Amino acid sequence: MKITCHPQGRWQPGFRRLIAVLAAFWAGLPVWGIPSRAAPKLVVVPVGGSGTESLSPGVLEQLHSLAPDAFCRQIGSTSVIQVGAFHRQESIDLMLESLALLGLEGQVWSPEAAALNLGGGGSTEGIPFHWPYPVASEADLEPVSGLGGRVERLHQEAAQAFRQMQQHAQASNISLVLISGFRDLSVQTALFRRQIRRQGSEQAAMRLSAPPGYSEHHTGYALDMGDGRHPQTHLQYSFAQTPAYAWLVQHAPQYGFELSFPPGNGQGVNYEPWHWRYVGSPQAAALFAQARLASPW
Ligand code: DAL
Ligand code: ZN
Repeated sequence: MKITCHPQGRWQPGFRRLIAVLAAFWAGLPVWGIPSRAAPKLVVVPVGGSGTESLSPGVLEQLHSLAPDAFCRQIGSTSVIQVGAFHRQESIDLMLESLALLGLEGQVWSPEAAALNLGGGGSTEGIPFHWPYPVASEADLEPVSGLGGRVERLHQEAAQAFRQMQQHAQASNISLVLISGFRDLSVQTALFRRQIRRQGSEQAAMRLSAPPGYSEHHTGYALDMGDGRHPQTHLQYSFAQTPAYAWLVQHAPQYGFELSFPPGNGQGVNYEPWHWRYVGSPQAAALFAQARLASPW
């Protein structure tokens, strides 16, 4: 009863009898609908040492009944289940109980634990995948001037690095503007819901926007930048043709910034030439360790 996660991350059908046995367990229990304000989580299921074992089709089917939009990833010898953004905590608890009934020990990991413990790249084979990130504490954030006089916020380490980089760029007649910095869960929820409306499904939306709890912007270390002299390219792929982008590719690493979603990134997220993350401190690098494994430069 072992099988690797479906290569496309979808759920395997089968084991209907097992469903029937366990259906009673779940009968009547609501699992869907209310946006979670709890800390983002991954349900992680270690399933053996060979790297080829994984959750059985029956287990996957059961989990799917609890969380229809959950995605399964096989990373080395560990199955990682990314629970949909709008699931209640109860569904995660149910998932763990269900796994226990099936003799599997699921663990809920924090992003930090995931980064430390999961080896290997998180290849997604075209299905978008987002790691969960902690929301920065107010005390760690500081204001930074944003586009059109708006005040954005960044983690203080990223803020300092961004200002220095902006000044250096200015000296080369490059206008770097900050379009979007820190985002809380409610802002990301609104953005993600809008993207679902536009794209038609959560999965399609995830190519362009992270679900709440899963955006690098929550950390205060990620930022969307634009070229102040070419505002028509803001948040457009054409930003990659601007002098500001060319300058960033050459100089941003000096300031600790790297592109989060290069073309063909392992997370399956669309290319975002405007979205950079700060990895210039041990703390920041640790936060993004897993994502960096998934999209090695
Ligand atoms: N656009 C990126 C993926 C985000 O929403 O964080
Ligand atoms: Zn962004």
